[in-house]
Amino acid sequence: MTPNRGAKREISFVVNGDHRTVCVYPMERLLDVLRQQLSLTGTKEGCGEGECGACSVLIDGALVDSCLVPVAQAEGARIVTIEGVAANPRFSALGQAFLDCGGAQCGICTPGMMVAAVHLLDRNSAPTMDDIREGLSGNLCRCTGYLQILEAVAEAARRTAVR
Ligand code: FES
Ligand code: FES
Repeated sequence: MTPNRGAKREISFVVNGDHRTVCVYPMERLLDVLRQQLSLTGTKEGCGEGECGACSVLIDGALVDSCLVPVAQAEGARIVTIEGVAANPRFSALGQAFLDCGGAQCGICTPGMMVAAVHLLDRNSAPTMDDIREGLSGNLCRCTGYLQILEAVAEAARRTAVR
């Protein structure tokens, strides 16, 4: 449901390196604005309540659940979605490792997992399994049992370390 209290207004931010201005109700969810107005549908909705991490994006370098962010709070921010994460040099190694390790099954959690994994590896290029567990602790997966995802991130870290 779209919160429509108040009047629409223009809000500007940078998304994946591009300056964007949208005309929105200030309390609309950033998740909906990204998907519906900006056609950035790689960001998924799972729970809609800040529990699953399917809607993860980076805002000014912080990993956040976009379903919990009123779009007005993102004014002036630098937002990176899964589409922008795809430009990160670690992305292809992560994607291949997810495939090789069985870390992606239905795929609903995968974009959020990848955003969280890139966020982790950018800060810690040689994470322990505990680091990876912690880095992905906000992201739920109903399919894999998590081990394959943890192994995929560890494998991607190994592969990018030897490049
Ligand atoms: S859809 Fe945002 S945390 Fe689940
Ligand atoms: S692969 Fe289906 S929820 Fe994670």
